[in-house]
Amino acid sequence: MRKIAIIGAGNVGGQIAAFLIHSAAFKPRPLGRGKVTPLSVSILSKPQSLDRGVEGLIKEGPVDLLLLDVVKGLAKGKALDLEDCASVLRQDCVINGSEDFSLLKDRDIVVLTAGLARKPGMSRDDLLKKNSEIIKDISLKIKEYASGKIVLVITNPVDLMTCLTARITGFPKNKVFGMGVSLDSARFANLIRQELKVPVTGIEAVVIGSHGQAMVPAPNQTQVSGVRIERLVGEGIIAKLARETVERGASIVAHLGSGSAYYGPAAAACDIIKAIIKDEKRVIGICAYLDGQYTIKDLYLGVPARVGKQGVEEVIEIELSENEKKQLVSSAESIRGQLDNLNV
Ligand SMILES: NC(=O)c1ccc[n+]([C@@H]2O[C@H](COP(=O)([O-])OP(=O)(O)OC[C@H]3O[C@@H](n4cnc5c(N)ncnc54)[C@H](O)[C@@H]3O)[C@@H](O)[C@H]2O)c1
Repeated sequence: MRKIAIIGAGNVGGQIAAFLIHSAAFKPRPLGRGKVTPLSVSILSKPQSLDRGVEGLIKEGPVDLLLLDVVKGLAKGKALDLEDCASVLRQDCVINGSEDFSLLKDRDIVVLTAGLARKPGMSRDDLLKKNSEIIKDISLKIKEYASGKIVLVITNPVDLMTCLTARITGFPKNKVFGMGVSLDSARFANLIRQELKVPVTGIEAVVIGSHGQAMVPAPNQTQVSGVRIERLVGEGIIAKLARETVERGASIVAHLGSGSAYYGPAAAACDIIKAIIKDEKRVIGICAYLDGQYTIKDLYLGVPARVGKQGVEEVIEIELSENEKKQLVSSAESIRGQLDNLNV
């Protein structure tokens, strides 16, 4: 369970590969005097630091990556560069790049990052039409060459693209899921860290719902050193941090001028990939299939879920305030409406 294909060798795809190689190069740090640090028992376990989280990668052998892209030479060029990166880091990684989708045949995990990135002034929803065409085409190839394998969707708007991928491939729903709200939670945590001037390691920030304007930051479930954030700062500050979390992606796009975020997204994707490879069964916010949970049926949406080598092993229902419940359901309705328009 370590042969990974990354479809789309652009910014996010390339950075995921670089992080995986880089993290495999570092052995877990000693935990000090033989003590074992207990695992977090909170609702959402924190992302593991890149170097400590890859024990399984090291144990199971070298990282084996395949980059695929529609642009001739791009994936191959990046693969050669990444091989050099691995060599600098003294890693015997296997890295290939190609335009040939039949190479998906021997992959365990397919990470789907192909598509357009947001441009300034473009909402995630603006991406919908163009990226849905790309995803439809690629999903047919995944169905043909990587039947039943785990597919992690990154392409935006991720909730819709995950639904589309699952419908077109017809793969079991637990094998197809998306990355979105774990990144939003990390963004929320970062803003809380800056506001409260506390270490990010003590923050459990929770964001659920769609990865877009309708995301639902959940202060009710957000804690700093085990204390609910609502007991530490006033409503006004929380609302400001939540708003900035929602706007974070657009703000990055506006500063960059071209392209969208990729370091944060790639780190969030690697965190999920490691949970699969290591069979961690860790609870992570992901875009998972809901079959009645949170009163939402037959739809993909960002929620906490237990992730392991089987993919999504359990969707976790956390306690939400009435307002958060309403926002989540309206997030779901908006996705369903857009999905109906896609006619898949
Ligand atoms: N889910 C998230 O949290 C999140 C975060 C950041 C970016 N994204 C999304 O990830 C996607 C990729 O972003 P990026 O910054 O890497 O963009 P990018 O433009 O740098 O890379 C996209 C790559 O996809 C390739 N591609 C396009 N059509 C293809 C096809 N049919 N087959 C194979 N490859 C194809 C392009 O050639 C390009 O190399 C975008 O949709 C972006 O919005 C999602």
